[in-house]
Amino acid sequence: TALDRAHNIEDLRRLAKRRLPQAMFDYIDGGAEDEGTMRGNRDAFCEVSLIPRQLVDVSKVDPKTTAFGCDIDLPFMIAPTGMSAMFHPDAERGVARAAGRSGTLYSLSTMGSTSIEDVAASSSGSKAFQIYAFRDRALTSEFIERARSARYDALILTVDVPVAGNRERDLRNGMTLPPALGLMGILDIARHWRWSLDYVRAPRMTLANVAHRIAEANADISTLSGYIANQFSSSMTWDDARSIAEEWGGPLAIKGVLHPDDARRAVDAGASAVVVSNHGGRQLDGAIASMDALPGIVDAIGDRCEVFLDGGIRRGSDIVKAIALGAKACFVGRPYLYGLGAAGEAGVEEALTILASETRRVMALMGATALGDLDRTCLSHRTLAAS
Ligand code: FNR
Repeated sequence: TALDRAHNIEDLRRLAKRRLPQAMFDYIDGGAEDEGTMRGNRDAFCEVSLIPRQLVDVSKVDPKTTAFGCDIDLPFMIAPTGMSAMFHPDAERGVARAAGRSGTLYSLSTMGSTSIEDVAASSSGSKAFQIYAFRDRALTSEFIERARSARYDALILTVDVPVAGNRERDLRNGMTLPPALGLMGILDIARHWRWSLDYVRAPRMTLANVAHRIAEANADISTLSGYIANQFSSSMTWDDARSIAEEWGGPLAIKGVLHPDDARRAVDAGASAVVVSNHGGRQLDGAIASMDALPGIVDAIGDRCEVFLDGGIRRGSDIVKAIALGAKACFVGRPYLYGLGAAGEAGVEEALTILASETRRVMALMGATALGDLDRTCLSHRTLAAS
């Protein structure tokens, strides 16, 4: 199959680009405005170099760790992303199954195309449910109760969408509600006949978790993300975060933290984890790269709280660098979505396998048999080293 020719995440990205209509591919691949933060996430990894230690017995390397009180075999987890059914009929269930088989945690987005309960029923692995603060506080409570009954291990509260990001590729492609694909867009979909066949066979795309509320929405909306963000509260504050943490009572990550003072506030509000994240460069263009924000946040709260990072991870070496800088583990978004877009569940599994084997190889080359062997002495920062 085509997957046999995929040796890294970029290969999966190319395969996804080939199978998906451009509007769908760009929805995954793109970021806000000039995509500077999206590129910055990648560049920040290049600014950090690894300093390997030699003549260590690395015949056994184990990258296992824990997150949210769950044992995970790999130091990276599945980041929450919306509407997977748009990319492949395997959708959230396929991603959750692949994550379970790979021994890592799956996060279901509020904006998922599969319900909280259906995802729970189809994978035995660890799971988190991601929520936003909704205009309607009762909806937040409803989600907390559903996640509790379906035995999710953790809640992730995403705090970097007070308003929708400005994703210009989506505007250009007519990824709007209702879709405004235009003649070229329709021709492009027809040209991607494999995706089209899958799409007509698949169950209709719905926002399974919020459909019952979205029906009531009155929307002044130009983009898909705008439509969705309209459901979110723009007036959420740390008091709301605290009340959500209390209501949930279990492991809770606050996702989208970039300032050390906000990290302290997250801990004070009752979070057991923060995700250092700029939403993959899809929200505030010009925001600091995740890797650049990480050390300050680790120094501020690393001893009181789990610190995770996402944004721009495309290689095992990126994961190793983040952990050496103090992250407990990472999340990946686009890497598994490229796999899903390329070949469904098998493509997701390929993405996770590629990242896992790269991580193991980089640990061995670093002379690290466990994640605990990685610390800041393993790193050199190009601009710091030069000064
Ligand atoms: C996202 N992300 C996201 N985050 C979130 O909290 N809720 C969501 O519904 C979504 N949806 C979403 C859709 C798509 C297509 C992408 C690419 C991303 C952000 C995601 O969780 C994560 O922060 C980034 O994807 C990490 O960056 P990388 O790994 O994609 O570079």
